[in-house]
Amino acid sequence: MISLRTWRAKGELVCQDTGYSMEVRAALWCFLLAAIAGVVLRMAGAGLVGFETLDLSNLRRAHSHLMLFSWVTPALAALIASNATPDPKIRVFLRAMLVLGLLSFPSFLVSGYQPVQIGSARVPLSIIFSTLSMFAWYAFAIAWIRIRGEVQTTTNALAVRAWDGAIFLLVLGSLGAWARGALTGMGNKDMFLQHAAVEFFLTTYVDGFLMIGVLGLVLTTNGDRWKAASKCMLGMIIVLTPFEFLAFLPIDLVPKSLRPVGAIAALCIGLGGLYFAASVNDHLARAFLLVLGGGKLMLVHPESAAEVLGLGLRIPYLHVLLLGFVTITLVEHISLRWSTDINPSLVRPMVVLALVALLPTTGLWPSFVSRELGLVVTALASVLPVGAIYLGINARWFPLFQHTIPSSCPR
Ligand code: HEM
Repeated sequence: MISLRTWRAKGELVCQDTGYSMEVRAALWCFLLAAIAGVVLRMAGAGLVGFETLDLSNLRRAHSHLMLFSWVTPALAALIASNATPDPKIRVFLRAMLVLGLLSFPSFLVSGYQPVQIGSARVPLSIIFSTLSMFAWYAFAIAWIRIRGEVQTTTNALAVRAWDGAIFLLVLGSLGAWARGALTGMGNKDMFLQHAAVEFFLTTYVDGFLMIGVLGLVLTTNGDRWKAASKCMLGMIIVLTPFEFLAFLPIDLVPKSLRPVGAIAALCIGLGGLYFAASVNDHLARAFLLVLGGGKLMLVHPESAAEVLGLGLRIPYLHVLLLGFVTITLVEHISLRWSTDINPSLVRPMVVLALVALLPTTGLWPSFVSRELGLVVTALASVLPVGAIYLGINARWFPLFQHTIPSSCPR
């Protein structure tokens, strides 16, 4: 994240076209579409709207897949790639991510993971589109190897190291999805393996690619404050992330010999998060890293992990990470690179309010205050980040295909 001072000091970047502006703009529109689906879910949760034909669990899947596949992944990939000369091939990969994520939205909405009836055939459309998205990730990973040398000349070494790790974990994590497909194909009924494959994919993708990739963005504006220690901490987080999924699985499923592995990974990654919370300059990034690092420490002990999950903290934690840390950082860096009218000073408080308003959805909500009323507040507050980002992209970035030059730039 970027402090206002750095923001102004970096003002000279604002007028450069670093490529991929159309793709980033499209990703922001995907955020809005997915966020509207999220708001509808919150409204339904508060009883403000009701649907007879729409399955809300399908809407939840449509929301989460669009957010992950067509917002955060292409936006982060574009920001990383924008540190090198714009590459037409990368543009194609970003577009593929966007289009495949968008195509999966209606199929998740209509049938979730189930096949869709097309004529006489039943076609698993949402799985097909999600699987194809992974090929766009692989293509981007190969492109990263090509542009990495150039990025090294424009960006600090710690950020490049973070992106190396993030992109490696993106590819590694996808093997979990393949493994799950293979297990189902082989008719394997082992509960540990089935859950492990999915959890490995999710954890390595979200806590690996997204969290570490976005930490890389934060490090571009925070520099290497404690160079050698930061290098070690980052290395430790990258190496241990593939084992962290063991701490997220229900404890009874995990073989006894593997339980300490998950606990040690969660402990070290949690401490790594706290380390970076202390080393970055930005207050909000620091606060998010504190919460996220602290959250991981709660997973170290199986009993506290069960308690945390029992309090319904999984989804709020995911949103602190994905809507808070990841989305705020992406939006700020996009604004810096491509000069949108998105105002970080507005987005930040709106997102924080929406996150604080998640309290009524958890077991932490005090029993003497009406939960029904609390859920209405949650639903209303969920509109705030949507409004803040919409106002920013609507102001000058509204036409999706128009190449816009900010009025502050020399023409
Ligand atoms: C205004 C912004 C957002 C709103 C209103 C919103 C709303 C929601 C709601 C209501 C749920 C279902 C919660 C439940 O079932 O208890 C959900 C789940 C989820 N959301 Fe969001 N969300 C937002 C932003 C994001 C972002 C930015 C991401 C990712 C980049 C994201 C990823 C997810 C994921 C992964 C799930 C879990 C899905 C599952 O477990 O099936 N959300 N969101």
